[in-house]
Amino acid sequence: MAISLPAREILQVEDLRTAFFSKEGVVEAVNGVTFSLRENSILAVVGESGCGKTVTALSILGLLPYSGRITSGRVLFNGVDLATLSQEALRQVRGKEIGIVFQDPMSSLNPSIPIGTQVEEVLLAHTSATRQEAHIWAQELLTEMGLPDAGRLLKQYPFQLSGGMRQRVMLSIAVALRPKVLIADEPTSNLDTTLQAAILSHLRLLKQEYGTAILLITHDMGIVAQMADQVAVMYAGAIVEYTDTVSLFQHPAHPYTWGLLQSLPRLDDAGRKLRTMRGRPPDMMNLPAECPFLPRCFKASNICRTSPRPALRSVEDGHQVACFNEMRHE
Ligand SMILES: Nc1ncnc2c1ncn2[C@@H]1O[C@H](COP(=O)(O)OP(=O)(O)OP(=O)(O)O)[C@@H](O)[C@H]1O
Ligand SMILES: [Mg+2]
Repeated sequence: MAISLPAREILQVEDLRTAFFSKEGVVEAVNGVTFSLRENSILAVVGESGCGKTVTALSILGLLPYSGRITSGRVLFNGVDLATLSQEALRQVRGKEIGIVFQDPMSSLNPSIPIGTQVEEVLLAHTSATRQEAHIWAQELLTEMGLPDAGRLLKQYPFQLSGGMRQRVMLSIAVALRPKVLIADEPTSNLDTTLQAAILSHLRLLKQEYGTAILLITHDMGIVAQMADQVAVMYAGAIVEYTDTVSLFQHPAHPYTWGLLQSLPRLDDAGRKLRTMRGRPPDMMNLPAECPFLPRCFKASNICRTSPRPALRSVEDGHQVACFNEMRHE
């Protein structure tokens, strides 16, 4: 009988805090985020626009813009604190061990360099491939990603490609060297449903075939349901619920998660209108001391108004929630 070892934690984020500093004030974009990503699994980070998903990813990768700074916490990759690495060593990790797909592929591809050169550069920088080998390899990578006529595509510039094609080129680059971790920030936003399905199934394949651990950032609970093994729900820079996907959908414990699930259209109720959650997320430059979900919460009580923002705590095995009045199930 085969012995299955428990999956290792490949990426650990511990109490990460990131802020942006400007003349106008301080934006506390990430406020104490802790999670771990296991090999051969997909962890979805989900939440409304502005809750800190992208800034979390940029902080992990050491790619924050000038005004942003990690103010506390650690990021461990394979047990190594990324903050202790030199810029060069970090670049090596980013190119080879951690693949990245950004929200907007146009901003990450160089507009003035043909696609082929951009894919080949990654292969040449991190392997001993010759230019000719890299060219053939690049062609294979694009074909594998379902891009037709890869030979011709390699000669084109990013602006000559559709958004969906650019996104697939980005993904080809990100996974070319079979990274242990892939960070995919909204990899299918702005794509039609057919392309979205193709990219998502490719991500699942990466996990199955190579054991790639994927941090999948999305605001779409439908994608979470299809893809994720575990889910971290973010609100105002912090994780408010953290559990496996089945528990999240069967027993959402945070009122915010409940609200997100309510706004999903249901297959069994075609006539139902899509509901959006009432209220708006807080201003990240003026976060309240108490729970930032309070003004929108239907479970709010006195303790929520008089206490500091609640921390994550376990409500059952492997299910954590940051709420004083979490929803219970029988
Ligand atoms: N360069 C920056 N300077 C100042 N504030 C920033 C900067 N980048 C992001 N922020 C702020 O940090 C907060 C988190 O932003 P982030 O981009 O991580 O949100 P997000 O969850 O990725 O949203 P979306 O779903 O729209 O991509 C927001 O309040 C945003 O305005
Ligand atoms: Mg984002």
